[in-house]
Amino acid sequence: MRNRDHIVLVGPMGSGKSTLGRALAARLGLGFIDVDERIVAEAGRSIAELFASEGEAGFRAREARTLAQALGEAAAVVATGGGAVLAEANRAAMRGAGRVVYLRVDADAQLARLQGDSTRPLLQGEDRARTLAALQATREPLYRAAAHLLFDTTQFAPDAAAAALAERL
Ligand code: S3P
Repeated sequence: MRNRDHIVLVGPMGSGKSTLGRALAARLGLGFIDVDERIVAEAGRSIAELFASEGEAGFRAREARTLAQALGEAAAVVATGGGAVLAEANRAAMRGAGRVVYLRVDADAQLARLQGDSTRPLLQGEDRARTLAALQATREPLYRAAAHLLFDTTQFAPDAAAAALAERL
């Protein structure tokens, strides 16, 4: 049976889903599941390797399976990947499993947080600002559609963000 008390974090790369999520779980005394980390652990390959060998479609299928599995487990804070909201079925599953929080971030802060990161396959081009803006233009309505609550992480360090978010849940 589905557990309905999850807190599911959605939002773009660099919005703080993993770091804030871990701090939030500790604060609330809940478990923490990072969907990307679980995909990597189960596949024994990095996200970049999975994109290269199976294409984005293969990765999205793994993401949907792993998310559904996580949402069926005991209540936890669940950090999703930035593209998890692309599939309508994922959005419906999240909303049915608990509270969905859209972590939003201003473009400049997002870019700064992702500086030096070379692990994300969708961020390989020269013009990162433009890539992130294009992704956000497509996905912003989906983050909003998926979420019960919007929380802006731009001004916060992870622990302060977790404290402020916990107040609003
Ligand atoms: C992706 C975001 C990544 C990861 C994959 C695809 C995306 O997760 O799932 O690289 O489509 O935005 P983060 O949002 O945790 O970086």
